[in-house]
Amino acid sequence: MPTSRSGSLDTVMQEARRFPPPDDFARRARIGSLEAYEQLWNRAAQDVEGFWGELAKELHWFKPFSKVLEWNEPFAQWFVGGQTNVSYNCLDRHLAPSADPPRADKPAIVWEGEPGDTRVLTYRQLHREVCQFANVLRSLGIRAGDVVSIYMPMTPELPIAMLACARIGAIHSVIFGGFSSEAIADRNNDARARLVITADGGWRRSGKLPLKANVDAALEKSPTVEKCIVLRRVGNDIAMRPGRDFWWHELMANASPDCPAEPLDSEHPLFILYTSGSTGKPKGIKHTSAGYNLFVKKTTEWVFDLREEDIFWCTADCGWVTGHSYVVYGPLTAGATVFMYEGAPNWPQEDRLWQLIEKYRVSIFYTAPTAIRAAIKWGDRWIDSHDLSSLRLLGTVGEGINPEAWMWYHRKVGHERCPIVDTWWQTETGGIMMSPLPGAIATKPGSCTKPLPGVVPAIVDEHGHPVEAGRGGWLVITRPWPGMLRGIWGDDARYQEQYWSKSRHNYLAGDNARCDADGYYWIMGRIDDVLNVSGHRLSTIEIESALVSHPRVAEAAAVGRPDEVKGEAVAVFVTVKNGEPDDALRQELKRHVRKEIGALAQPDDIRFTSALPKTRSGKIMRRLLRDIAAGKETVGDTTTLEDYSVLAKLREQEE
Ligand code: PRX
Repeated sequence: MPTSRSGSLDTVMQEARRFPPPDDFARRARIGSLEAYEQLWNRAAQDVEGFWGELAKELHWFKPFSKVLEWNEPFAQWFVGGQTNVSYNCLDRHLAPSADPPRADKPAIVWEGEPGDTRVLTYRQLHREVCQFANVLRSLGIRAGDVVSIYMPMTPELPIAMLACARIGAIHSVIFGGFSSEAIADRNNDARARLVITADGGWRRSGKLPLKANVDAALEKSPTVEKCIVLRRVGNDIAMRPGRDFWWHELMANASPDCPAEPLDSEHPLFILYTSGSTGKPKGIKHTSAGYNLFVKKTTEWVFDLREEDIFWCTADCGWVTGHSYVVYGPLTAGATVFMYEGAPNWPQEDRLWQLIEKYRVSIFYTAPTAIRAAIKWGDRWIDSHDLSSLRLLGTVGEGINPEAWMWYHRKVGHERCPIVDTWWQTETGGIMMSPLPGAIATKPGSCTKPLPGVVPAIVDEHGHPVEAGRGGWLVITRPWPGMLRGIWGDDARYQEQYWSKSRHNYLAGDNARCDADGYYWIMGRIDDVLNVSGHRLSTIEIESALVSHPRVAEAAAVGRPDEVKGEAVAVFVTVKNGEPDDALRQELKRHVRKEIGALAQPDDIRFTSALPKTRSGKIMRRLLRDIAAGKETVGDTTTLEDYSVLAKLREQEE
């Protein structure tokens, strides 16, 4: 698997296997041949504006746009002058008597909670609840342009809250339920959120996640937040502060279901989503309305070859961009039936995913390589007893998939019948950028294959010049696309610096990649200090900042090491200020990082050391630390190492 992040970028393994689209799949597909894909891609590349302008007719426009793209590098405006509403496109469009096909009584969301409770919401019912909740938000003083933080379990109320914000032009900032109260407060403050929507808890392996308690602690440090709405989900004993906290069901009981969608400018912000960058402060990635909406609709239809009867399951939590784009906005705009599940994949047993696919006749299954690797580890007996014949297409997202895991997915889940779409994209790109089109492009395990229509990537060297075919380099996108981020919330300078300053006129994705002789792209890992743990981005500097905020820590360095299930595990090296470090401190530091950032950032290994290896200019030599963390001999250049003895000492340290 091409995972090299240091050393030569050209020594990746060559993967020779190819899997052409199955004939019967290709025959029925929206885009059913390589020629059809190439034609579409070329048409888009030749006339980006004409291409997207034509497709934009598929959205509802309260006021038509006058110009497709206004490109003021690096700031894009798509569908200039137009007015639309994302919630209208997701809901109302399907309800009109003239809608073809009519979808008012089609299930929009089919949901199962972890304890096994279920709920089905048709498009009509979902529309009603969204309208009511939009009125609830209004009744608490929320208006277009206000920021609302959402910190909820994966229940239907989470998409309802998102769509209700979209309906009235409030900007949502969904915070993953695994983040700590510190992380919630940081995000509330950066976005100047006025309201938080949460729940009394959520189910996780039969335990109750203390969501409201985390919000309570965060609100002590969130001066801009005035009100909080609480969904009753688990029956936790929680504190409700009069005047600030309101029960969801009490507000909904009196809310009118009449709430016309507000016409909003094409570039009205739809959401902010915080993601890790290469500095300590998470960045609020800003996405806007019309371009994002069109991009996620089209990519859902192309990549998943969506059909009217599909049951589409994207396992991502709505706290991540994948949940925004492929649980909520893409599939609902495309009129799909979305399946949602609240809990853990191994609860009550390790076959929950397969049992749900069988029970709900899921036809498209989109998940992360880490989930696949976990399932492989749990053993085939959990999957072999289930009928997975409803599946017709599989997908992966979030990190590269190693060919062995790909082959298991292909054989055990897809029964060698279902194409696999390995989709490369980012929080910043809004939607899928590179992926096989399952009826058109032969797959190679480990490659995200080719760019989607309207996406023009390139591989460049450190000076921004294109590299020869087959060689590794920085992955850049050379043209604006409708789903692209519009900036970092409140920080245009950082946006410019991080994405647009290193390769002239190109968007720098932050990944290394190579393109093979067939024009297939292979992602080779990040170029910055960003880890990919279970498909989630974590910044090493964020973890380091959390560690040094502990009174006993003098210095810390965090690196990734390969992990069979998580992709990367977090390994940290710590020097302490005084006293002898011991296991009690190690456990305390793990808890500390958990409290500061959240469980997903908790270090897997902590090594104490008297000094960190540094260059003479004082830079921590992360490459060496990565080798040590991975248990490898250091073969690289160590001539600039300040203190050779540090290396030897670090090696002696085993957790
Ligand atoms: O490094 C790439 C990796 O995940 C990063 C984006 O992370 P995030 O913004 O959290 O979004 C994840 C879900 C879209 C990328 O820069 N990545 C994502 N998909 C793939 C991938 N690496 C290899 N192959 C993929 N299919």
